[in-house]
Amino acid sequence: MDKLILGIESSCDETAAAVTLNGRTVLSSIINTQIDIHKKYGGVVPEIASRCHINAIDAVLDEALEAAGITLQDIDAIAVTCGPGLVGALLVGVSEAKALAYAAGKPLIGVHHIKGHIMANLIEHKELTPPFVCLVASGGHSHIVNVKDYTEFEILARTRDDAAGEAFDKISRVLGLGYPGGPLIDTLAAEGNENAAEFPRVTLSDGSLDFSFSGVKTAVINYLHNAEQKGEEINKADIAASFQAAVTDVLCDHTIAAAKKAGSEIITLAGGVAANSVLRSKMTKRAGAEGIKVLYPPPVLCTDNAAMIACCGYYQLLKDDFAPLTLNASPSLKL
Ligand code: KG4
Ligand code: ZN
Repeated sequence: MDKLILGIESSCDETAAAVTLNGRTVLSSIINTQIDIHKKYGGVVPEIASRCHINAIDAVLDEALEAAGITLQDIDAIAVTCGPGLVGALLVGVSEAKALAYAAGKPLIGVHHIKGHIMANLIEHKELTPPFVCLVASGGHSHIVNVKDYTEFEILARTRDDAAGEAFDKISRVLGLGYPGGPLIDTLAAEGNENAAEFPRVTLSDGSLDFSFSGVKTAVINYLHNAEQKGEEINKADIAASFQAAVTDVLCDHTIAAAKKAGSEIITLAGGVAANSVLRSKMTKRAGAEGIKVLYPPPVLCTDNAAMIACCGYYQLLKDDFAPLTLNASPSLKL
């Protein structure tokens, strides 16, 4: 029987609601982004994010239902991101979802944000079925995940310090480009020479495929300080390209090694950094040479949205994985 899921996402700086049919068909997806508000502070200010979610959420929900041509009564379940993320931001979505579930008598489903990001690939690639390996790289996370089944996930590697997106945002800030840094570096790097500076590609000595991006971040900052002290002119496009080359090299090499180890013939990309043009092309080329196919969602499904949450909620519904009305926001929820 057909299932309509209403998805709600408010873990960071996007207030989003979406309706999906049987998980993979998106009937509506509304995203209200706060980027312009946080831009002037150079990053997300948690308190402002929570207030913006409160102001936006009712209208975003109404719009999602209207665009799907349905009412709350037609919905089979309400799926909401319950973690990880900013606690005050998460609480807005979770409280709204609980209130709606209670008032309309609908089941509630708590969704892990990272699992949601992975599911964006199922929306875009209708033929895709687990098992596959997924690189989830966003502003808060960098994980390589073995997606064994629709609701079964195994972490193969994670970052030991910064997330990849966090490094993009930081380097963008020191280059004076703005926030969020990923898309700005991506665009500027296209005009630069990626061999202009050599930045470290860190592989840990313990044999794990975990990431560490704090070294490359520090190396770029030191490079800029040295150039400044010597009064040397720097070419921002060259630095952006060289930094991006270092980060994407590591993301590709570790993910391909993890996929080979797991015996997976498919690598998918997810999270905001999956929108990166060099990551996409480099991964496709390098994995292709190893006989591994690479899939990724369009940029709008890489960054935060609620369609991915509704999709994930559908597969949890099939497993009767419902949440009680006591569901709470879990800022450090484990995968
Ligand atoms: O998934 P997302 O929207 O939010 C989190 O869950 O964190 O990811 C946002 C992150 C930001 O750090 C942003 O700079 C990065 O994704 N990002 C990119 C690109 N587009 C967004 N990083 C590299 N290249 C891009 N084109
Ligand atoms: Zn995200």
